[in-house]
Amino acid sequence: MNKDIQSIVLTEAQIKEKVAAAAVWLDKRYEGKNPLFISVLKGSVMFFCDLVRAMETPVQMDFMTVSSYGAGSESSGMPKIVMDLAANVKDRHVVLVEDIVDSGYTLQRMKELMSGRGAASFTTVALFDKPARRKVDIKADYACFEIGDEFIVGYGLDYAQQYRNLPYVGILKREIYEK
Ligand code: IMP
Ligand code: MG
Repeated sequence: MNKDIQSIVLTEAQIKEKVAAAAVWLDKRYEGKNPLFISVLKGSVMFFCDLVRAMETPVQMDFMTVSSYGAGSESSGMPKIVMDLAANVKDRHVVLVEDIVDSGYTLQRMKELMSGRGAASFTTVALFDKPARRKVDIKADYACFEIGDEFIVGYGLDYAQQYRNLPYVGILKREIYEK
């Protein structure tokens, strides 16, 4: 285990189970609908790739980079679109794939954006939900795993751009982000 990790939240095997369950949930809803799956980069990259490969339904994929943190562990409250989609979402069934819903600002921003651009429907799937930290009244339609007020890293999730390539998800030692 990485020396900066206090404890493991999800092992690789547990992640795989959560992803498989989310894929079943999505397959039921999107068969025959040609959905557009959007990965909110960078945090959702691992989850996104595993999720679409676990699905039976053919999907189209697009990517958007949204940044809300700078280098810290608190959301700035104003998620910034660093890289926009290539696809036109008008009349599309959009599925937004997020790593984690924390304050909810990112999700709220995406929801407004997609409805403003005329998406036919908008569904959100998140690997993690951190409900204790919510600042706006919003929820992912499907969340794989609920966690308390801990800062987690790995499997795409970072702290200051580090730890994204850990194959598991763990709680980061406080001394790392409080120093
Ligand atoms: P929001 O606060 O709901 O807008 O979430 C913004 C983004 O912050 C998420 O998509 C994650 O990329 C990131 N984030 C929130 N909590 C954590 C965490 O515990 N570890 C790593 N990234 C996080
Ligand atoms: Mg994110």
